[in-house]
Formats: sequence, structure tokens, C-alpha cells
Amino acid sequence: MREIVLSGIRSTGNLHLGNYLGAVQNFVKMQHDSNCFFFIADFHSLTTHPTPADLHKSVRQVLVEYLAAGLDPEVSTLYIQSDVPEIAELYLLLNMNAYLGELERTTSFKEKARKQPENVNAGLLTYPVLMAADIVVHHADKVPVGKDQEQNLEMARKFARRFNNMYSVDYFKEPVAYNFGKELIKIPGLDGTGKMGKSEGNGIFLADDEKTIRKKIMRAVTDSGPTEPNSQMSESVKNLFSILDIVSSKDTVEYFKEKYNSCEIRYGDLKKQLAEDVIKLIAPINKRIQEIDSNTDYISKVARMGAEKARASAVKTLQEVREIIGIRKFY
Ligand code: TYM
Repeated sequence: MREIVLSGIRSTGNLHLGNYLGAVQNFVKMQHDSNCFFFIADFHSLTTHPTPADLHKSVRQVLVEYLAAGLDPEVSTLYIQSDVPEIAELYLLLNMNAYLGELERTTSFKEKARKQPENVNAGLLTYPVLMAADIVVHHADKVPVGKDQEQNLEMARKFARRFNNMYSVDYFKEPVAYNFGKELIKIPGLDGTGKMGKSEGNGIFLADDEKTIRKKIMRAVTDSGPTEPNSQMSESVKNLFSILDIVSSKDTVEYFKEKYNSCEIRYGDLKKQLAEDVIKLIAPINKRIQEIDSNTDYISKVARMGAEKARASAVKTLQEVREIIGIRKFY
């Protein structure tokens, strides 16, 4: 049987380079060899209370950008989470075996609770349970994600295992976080700290044109330059090198590393090269975004097709789960 691959993205704004390199690019590489499910996590994005208009717009935008990045809806199952109500039902059922203590200890929950103390809602707390439902509803083996989702995947395995133990079945698989042939990655932001994020104002987006990408990269935070050979890199310079490492050729990376180690580096040159290599990656996607965005009929056809395929799989799982749990009809 073909391996099942699944991943998702929240509909909270445009896709950035981190989303693309950490997750989306991996799906694209895998879609012809595996049974792939890709979805837009619009339920998850409700934790931040978007307006109805913003929510709808973001879901459309993410769908367009997924397609532009190379996901083929004829080959894969590309759908919107809220089109599959069985996910919500499975989330409810899994919540019965998810415990307050373990949910409160999740790093992402603690971080969110710190960032938005005025809105620590139950959806945030049970976010990993909904994520587990997303994954196990299609019995996924591999989940291409960035490093930041590692703990959520660990929880998904735990909930799957717990369900199996509780009902003495070998029903759910234990999914693993995955990056095509490599370690999970974290793309840093351009501001010298943390990871690239949608809301951090430190990102390069697939929807950015060439001029914007150049401007953003040329403005990226660096330091005053190495003063001794082979000195330690500051966080901000290390960040630029880690993006270079992923988007540029080995020779380019070596060239700039040598320049750094011999104190001859000019950050302006490094940034120019980085900008060109990022543009090489993003420009073709950007062009397709414009084309697909104007084709509303195509977008609705893709969404309908994805919903039908995803539901067929999810309905079957929920019938089996209900039977296992003992939710049986009297009529
Ligand atoms: P989200 O929407 O924050 O991000 C989507 C994907 O992009 C990856 N990512 C990154 N990878 C590398 N470097 C970065 N700077 C970076 N920023 C984001 C994320 O790791 C993720 O793979 N909870 C998920 C959405 C989700 C999901 C799922 C994913 C819901 N259900 C089921 C997989 C399976 C999230 O918030 O991703």
C-alpha cells in the first residue's frame, strides 16, 4: 500500500519562505509517489478571532498559493479543513482522552498564552488534539512540517497510541514529523531573532515581488562584521547563512563562509546573492499566484474536488471509530 502523507497550514495570511521550505516544498516533491493530503487549517486559525471577511479571504489566498507552489489537485487531495465535519467530530472524541496537564505543558500553548493573555481560549489549549484529528483521520504515516511542529506530532502519536490502548485495538497509526530526506528545519526571520513567521514582520512571502524581496533582504539585520579570523557568528549573521544554506548552491555557501572566516566578507554582497537565489525560487511561484488568483472557477472546482475526496476518507474513519467506541445506532 502507498504511504500516506499529510500536512496542513493555518489560514492566517500569506505563505512565507519558512512555510514553503519547511513544509510545502516537501509535499510537492512527495505527491507523485505517495497518497498525499494537503489541507488549509481554517478551524485552527479561529483561535485568533479573525473577522468573517478576513477568514474567507485568507483561506482563498492560501489555496491559491498552495496551487501556485506546485500542488497538483488531480494527483493529491487538496481541501479545506471545515469542508470535512468528520474532523470536528474526531476532535471531540479525542478530547475525551486528552488531559489538561499535558495540554497546558505544550510549548506552543505556553507561548501563545504569553503572547495573547487576553485570549487564552480552550481552542488554543486543545490545538494539538485538533491537529491529531487532522492527521489520524486519514491514517497518515508522514507529516511534512517545520521544526516548530515537532512537539505537536509527538502529541498526535500519543493520542493515537492512547486510543489504541484504551479500546485494545491496533487502529490508528503513529505519524511522524518529516522533511524530505533531511532534518526538520527552522527558517529564521530577517530581523536577527527567532523564526520567520506570518505575524512577526520578518518574513519573505511567496506573494512578494522581486523588488520587495530585494528590499527586505538588503535591510536584514547583520552586525559590524568579523574582526578576527574564524570568529563566532552573531545570531543575525548565522540566520542569513542558514537561509543561504538552504536556497543557494554549495559553492556559494562555501565562498561566503571563507570570506567570513578571513574577515573579508561584505554583507552587502552576501545579501545581494541571497536575494537573487530567493528570487529564483519564488519568482515562478509568484507568477502563478497572479494567474490562479484570477481564475475563480478553477479555485471553486479545486475546493469541491478536494472536499469530496477528503470526506470519502474521513467518513470511513469515523464509521470505524464510532463502532470501536460503541457509538452504535438504534434504528
Ligand atoms: P503553520 O500554519 O504555522 O505553518 C505551516 C507549516 O510551515 C512550517 N513553518 C516553518 N518551517 C520552517 N521554518 C519556519 N520559519 C516556519 N514557519 C512555519 C510549519 O512547521 C508548518 O509545517 N499547526 C500547524 C497547521 C496544522 C497542521 C495540521 C500541520 C494544523 N493541522 C496537521 C500538519 C498536520 C501550523 O500552525 O502551521
